[in-house]
Amino acid sequence: MTVEQHESTGAEVEDLSPSSREVAAEALESLRGPSPQLPCKLLYDDVGARLFEQICEQPEYYPTRTETAILRVRGAEIAARIGPHALVVEFGSGASTKTRHLLDALTEPAGYVPIDIAREQLAETARALDEDYPGLRVRPVCADYTKPITLPKLVDEVENTVVFFPGSTIGNFEQRQVVGFLRRVARLVGPGGGLLIGVDLKKDRHVLEAAYDDAAGVSRAFIKNVLARLNRECGAGFDLDAWRYRARWCEERSGIVMELICERPQRVTIAGETLEFAPGAVIHCEDSHKYSRESFAALAAEAGFSVDSVWTDDDELFSVQYLTADG
Ligand code: TRP
Repeated sequence: MTVEQHESTGAEVEDLSPSSREVAAEALESLRGPSPQLPCKLLYDDVGARLFEQICEQPEYYPTRTETAILRVRGAEIAARIGPHALVVEFGSGASTKTRHLLDALTEPAGYVPIDIAREQLAETARALDEDYPGLRVRPVCADYTKPITLPKLVDEVENTVVFFPGSTIGNFEQRQVVGFLRRVARLVGPGGGLLIGVDLKKDRHVLEAAYDDAAGVSRAFIKNVLARLNRECGAGFDLDAWRYRARWCEERSGIVMELICERPQRVTIAGETLEFAPGAVIHCEDSHKYSRESFAALAAEAGFSVDSVWTDDDELFSVQYLTADG
């Protein structure tokens, strides 16, 4: 993330999304090793992004509705901590549904920069926001927010830059990457700038396992879409029926581990290279780490953030936290 700025007007999407060739190269690189895995950002092409929207509506998947309720009920308190004329930069904005609660609560936000890799959804969402919030400068950027990002130049009267990172997506980062990522966010917002982040909390493993393997099978379809995507974009040739989805709690990692398990021999080709999978082979797709308030505060401190406020629901399922970057 760099803070270099450039001119930009209108809610037109600035496209920095990866090409099919980059996708193939990344997939090959992570699948060919001794413990095959797929980078979780590959889950979010346009098909995946829509499936994820459906996950958020499943009865077992408590994070979305819990976080949304916190943002709605605590909106005024959150807005008071952030202050007026803030520039809101959202990482992985998706349909920007939660953002509306935040924008509704904030006092004269200076602008909104949604950043996402699912291009169509980003364009649609930005258009809708542009219409619904006349006066608000919306500047979408289609990019991978884990890579350096150039923020569009907005206005000079920004009083506070705040990164909004809901959905407990921080839990999907490998633990050793979390501090580095938070440090880059701290640099992006500058001393005194903020990070409003959704952090899912540790709880009963059965509640967690159900949330990541819903009865309707949407989580399974979402994970399997990554194979379908490699078929669509790279002609990989995965047999989708030959893979079983599993979501299990892992105490050592303090997280849900999401994997695909091979049930029939597979031979696929990616970027000209042939890969073989035998029954029992596992592709690791994503982890969703869960934190206690203390364990998250410790990581934040290591990255140069101080925890300003923590809001939770009555059952302490989920937390929304406001962190400020140390000077
Ligand atoms: N950020 C989401 C989470 O960790 C991602 C997610 C939700 C997810 N449900 C999933 C990823 C199912 C894979 C499968 O809660």
